[in-house]
Amino acid sequence: MALWIWTLSILSCFCITFSRSEELKFFQSATELNHLTVDNDTGIIYLGVVNALYQLTENLVVRIHVETGPRKDNKKCTPPIEENQCKEAVLTDNYNKLLLLNKENKTIVVCGSLFKGICATRDLENITKVTHYVETSGEKSFVASNDENVSTVGLITSLDNDQVLFVGKGNGPNDNGIIISTRQLHEKDGKDIFEMYSDSAAVKSAYHSSSTQQFVTVFEDKNYVYFIFNQQEKQPVNNRTLIARLCKDDAHYYSYFEMDLGCKDEDGSYDHCHSAYVTTPGEELAKSMAQQRQATDSASDDKVLVALFSKVNKDNGSLKSAMCVFSLRHINEKMEKNRDDCYTNKNTSMFYKLFAVENPCGPHGQVISASML
Ligand SMILES: *[C@@H]1O[C@H](CO)[C@@H](O)[C@H](O)[C@H]1NC(C)=O
Ligand SMILES: *[C@@H]1O[C@H](CO)[C@@H](O)[C@H](O)[C@H]1NC(C)=O
Ligand SMILES: *[C@@H]1O[C@H](CO)[C@@H](O)[C@H](O)[C@H]1NC(C)=O
Ligand SMILES: *[C@@H]1O[C@H](CO)[C@@H](O)[C@H](O)[C@H]1NC(C)=O
Ligand SMILES: *[C@@H]1O[C@H](CO)[C@@H](O)[C@H](O)[C@H]1NC(C)=O
Ligand SMILES: *[C@@H]1O[C@H](CO)[C@@H](O)[C@H](O)[C@H]1NC(C)=O
Ligand SMILES: *[C@@H]1O[C@H](CO)[C@@H](O)[C@H](O)[C@H]1NC(C)=O
Repeated sequence: MALWIWTLSILSCFCITFSRSEELKFFQSATELNHLTVDNDTGIIYLGVVNALYQLTENLVVRIHVETGPRKDNKKCTPPIEENQCKEAVLTDNYNKLLLLNKENKTIVVCGSLFKGICATRDLENITKVTHYVETSGEKSFVASNDENVSTVGLITSLDNDQVLFVGKGNGPNDNGIIISTRQLHEKDGKDIFEMYSDSAAVKSAYHSSSTQQFVTVFEDKNYVYFIFNQQEKQPVNNRTLIARLCKDDAHYYSYFEMDLGCKDEDGSYDHCHSAYVTTPGEELAKSMAQQRQATDSASDDKVLVALFSKVNKDNGSLKSAMCVFSLRHINEKMEKNRDDCYTNKNTSMFYKLFAVENPCGPHGQVISASML
């Protein structure tokens, strides 16, 4: 979390340094910065901080400031919080867990850590105006993690001409166990905004202990949605980074598949991923990627996944970091291979739904490795 915030501060610094005007512009929040997003058409900057949301001009002038906390809450209580039903409720800080632009709908999706991670939509032009917020729907409306230390990632994309929200989150101590889900952003088929797109559009944590997964990012490419998360396992003790993939239009999550995302050097694995980013490689990198894989075609549509990893040296506790670059096409090929192996040889890959209970095909999938830069 700390590193993420640090990254955000760097981003804000860029805003300052590259601003066209001569004088140095800055914005300082009184509370911790959680998320920053920029509308690239209008230049408007949206900030989600602890207990507040801000809408800034491209010159970092505050146009709108909305307080979102603290409010009386308790992680164990089901909202709406009523004093006689939730005696343990105390003033609680509201961490911003998701801040996503839905430009098609001219809204911004905002989810906080309060009230079981219920979300709201607000007007993109004036974030004071709440366009949707319902706190009486119970379980089905719990989207983000209600734990300040458990990260939540989200992606808004279109599916059958509708906007949907893919969410990944760890499983906090008072959470519902859902780690990945698809949420509607429209009222449809008798389902409200933020409800699950279909009853089976979710992955539940396979681990009973909490805080096993820390999500790093979610992104889409072609018909797939990918999640990257770190997983801390207790038996046996192990830290891994996983990449999960599912087909965007698979309402049943049959296509959900996980694989280790390995970043290694001669001293071993980097077991913690901090951030990852998908982009199109430049000409030289594309060439060298094709050569490494001995591919005959130039793989011109191949994207690259750039990821920052770290590991702790067990002898002296020092931190070492690395950047690994993966070919997305290679990741997909490896996933297909693992899936085939799992079907044909019952080899040790991970299926979520198909073999789930009867034949889990083992918890340890094969590894996709990248060379370091
Ligand atoms: C803003 O970003 C979106 C998505 O990345 C892109 O499709 C669009 O062309 C961008 N608009 C501008 C004005 O750069
Ligand atoms: C935003 O909306 C609120 C409530 O409707 C209004 O009071 C405020 O003046 C608006 N702010 C701007 C900058 O338009
Ligand atoms: C979150 O982490 C901070 C710092 O490690 C800790 O003080 C706090 O108790 C944690 N919160 C929860 C709900 O676990
Ligand atoms: C955004 O979507 C919601 C739900 O479908 C709808 O009620 C609202 O009118 C839409 N807003 C805009 C500006 O299109
Ligand atoms: C796994 O990561 C956690 C948190 O970063 C760390 O405390 C723990 O020592 C790590 N375990 C192993 C086996 O590396
Ligand atoms: C820790 O050990 C590693 C490998 O032995 C070494 O490269 C590194 O300099 C050490 N760091 C510190 C702070 O001693
Ligand atoms: C299972 O997968 C591993 C790693 O990819 C491979 O080395 C092994 O040959 C596979 N086993 C079978 C029975 O296919």
